[in-house]
Amino acid sequence: MKPEIRSYPTLLDLSKAAAEFIVELAETAVEDRTIFTLALSGGSTPRLLYEYLAKEEFARRMPWEHMHVFWGDERCVSPDHPDSNFALAFESLISKAPLPSENVHRVPTEGELPKTAAREYERSLREFFQDAARDRMPMAFPAFDLILLGLGKDGHTASLFPGEPVLEEKTRWVVAVAGTSASPAVPRVTLTFPVINQARCVLFLASGSDKRDVFQEILNSPESAAQQYPAARVRPSGSLLWFIDEGLV
Ligand code: 6PG
Repeated sequence: MKPEIRSYPTLLDLSKAAAEFIVELAETAVEDRTIFTLALSGGSTPRLLYEYLAKEEFARRMPWEHMHVFWGDERCVSPDHPDSNFALAFESLISKAPLPSENVHRVPTEGELPKTAAREYERSLREFFQDAARDRMPMAFPAFDLILLGLGKDGHTASLFPGEPVLEEKTRWVVAVAGTSASPAVPRVTLTFPVINQARCVLFLASGSDKRDVFQEILNSPESAAQQYPAARVRPSGSLLWFIDEGLV
């Protein structure tokens, strides 16, 4: 399926449009399935989006009590560390929203070895989605209603970096990566492609001219881009959208 591209003048416009998109998706998901499962992305781009979602004009429409928040990836630092993706979302959104604490499913990174954190996070995901499915049949992969993703200048997404063996993972839901080529260069935990590509909807948020070449390659030459850019291998069974600003056009 070809991705849907929506372009906005600035990151501020992009973030407000993304907040509106997410509220509408959440309302529909809860109407259809009484639950909305959302995996947040990290980095700096989504901060404005999270701040918008906490603003009254969006917060009053969000079905918080039926919403479950997860992370697409996490740096293996303490949850209050400035590099933590949880800390970013907590400070800009979760601490301001009436989201029940049991609906926040962060990656257990404190004091854990990355592999242990990955195993623990996968266990919590399996428990949640198996229980939500109310189906004894073990599921191969969970279907998140929405997975938010960012784009790195090297074409990475979540913590799936170019050349990493975990790009070929076919069965595990969550893996640990060394993160040596990342910034910050810390070990990370990330969802794998089988999970990302099982999502009902994947929304990339990308801003800044330093990502233009990678984005244009992914958009115009998806097959060759998929050889070098992990973001080009995001091809969900559901819908795929890119919200970009004019730096990427
Ligand atoms: C991470 C992110 C990562 C991020 C991109 C873009 O934990 O680092 O999940 O995939 O989305 O690196 O980051 P910026 O938004 O800061 O450009």
